[in-house]
Amino acid sequence: MAKGEPVTVETILIPDPGPGEAVVKVQACGVCHTDLHYREGGISDDFPFLLGHEAAGIVESVGDGVTDVAPGDFVILNWRAVCGHCRSCARGKPQYCFSTHNATQNMTLADGSELSPALGIGAFCEKTLVAAGQCTKVDPAAKPEAAGLLGCGVMAGLGAAMNTGEVGRGDSVAVFGCGGVGNAALEGARLAGAKTIIAVDIDDTKLGWAKEFGATHTINSTQEDPVEKIREFTDGNGADVTIDAIGLPEVYEQAFYARDLAGTVVLVGVPNPTMTVELPFIELFGRGGSLKSSWYGDCLPSRDFPMLIDLYLQGRLNLDGFVSETIAIDDVEEAFHKMERGEVLRSVVVI
Ligand SMILES: NC(=O)c1ccc[n+]([C@@H]2O[C@H](COP(=O)([O-])OP(=O)(O)OC[C@H]3O[C@@H](n4cnc5c(N)ncnc54)[C@H](O)[C@@H]3O)[C@@H](O)[C@H]2O)c1
Ligand SMILES: [Zn+2]
Ligand SMILES: [Zn+2]
Repeated sequence: MAKGEPVTVETILIPDPGPGEAVVKVQACGVCHTDLHYREGGISDDFPFLLGHEAAGIVESVGDGVTDVAPGDFVILNWRAVCGHCRSCARGKPQYCFSTHNATQNMTLADGSELSPALGIGAFCEKTLVAAGQCTKVDPAAKPEAAGLLGCGVMAGLGAAMNTGEVGRGDSVAVFGCGGVGNAALEGARLAGAKTIIAVDIDDTKLGWAKEFGATHTINSTQEDPVEKIREFTDGNGADVTIDAIGLPEVYEQAFYARDLAGTVVLVGVPNPTMTVELPFIELFGRGGSLKSSWYGDCLPSRDFPMLIDLYLQGRLNLDGFVSETIAIDDVEEAFHKMERGEVLRSVVVI
């Protein structure tokens, strides 16, 4: 695969796992916007990439010194294998680890050229090599195509509400953008006990889906002013927590003004490097509260994945709803087009 060109299926070579590494037999892997960003050259120029990073599978073999997982374990792959000794880990906050790691050996094409695995995972393949810390063991009763989605976008949204936004019982929450990440934020708000859950999007189909993920109110922001409507739905006050799951300056401003005094704004959508936001300085002061950004939902995989899978198996977390379709590995290019046309929350490759 070269920059901007359609993806191709190739034979790859995977070394035996070295110290601290594991080889995982991939069962399912979701197609995420980040994979498309890689293919467009928006993340780095280290082509060829091995795409795919929202995956679940079975550990096949482990290298020396690996004790947390063993062959046969059902695992979700994560991109936050924490180091345990950086300044954030040392402060007891491994969910912000500043020095996460991946496998040290490389996977290659048959001609020996090194592959760059997306987010250090690379899981649109039968088997992949990762750092053992990237494997989080969960209850094998979960369907791989649903479980794997916790590995990226769904965790980002759930965690934006539950971890970063610290949504609590009885809170009001407004989520801007109801793609996979935004709907997961709605679901997270519901799980955390929010009373009023408001979904904002420009697409009525997405707003229809949002209701299935716990939205109590929906707003089409091409037809109504979302700030005014959110105030109306919250006794004139604004929401306790507002979440921008798009990453656009105009949406961030809406989220800023739609928030109650002393409330929290969470940015989980990823802006592009040319964007700027301008806000009256006095409003930043006068409204109090906090403006936070959420990377990977501030999750700690070893803490959050097994708990969320248990909630899923109890029927309390709707992970199946994110799986719009299951596809074969040859269909990833078509899945990118469906994603661009807004037709799916997630296409999931089943291997
Ligand atoms: N912070 C993280 O760790 C993390 C992790 C994964 C993804 N993300 C980011 O989250 C964002 C959302 O990802 P996704 O997969 O849900 O994307 P998506 O494209 O599926 O969803 C975006 C939604 O926003 C809506 N939208 C677009 N413009 C709008 C506007 N002006 N007002 C209201 N709604 C609007 C679209 O209709 C769509 O429903 C992306 O920026 C992605 O890169 C962040
Ligand atoms: Zn660390
Ligand atoms: Zn992703």
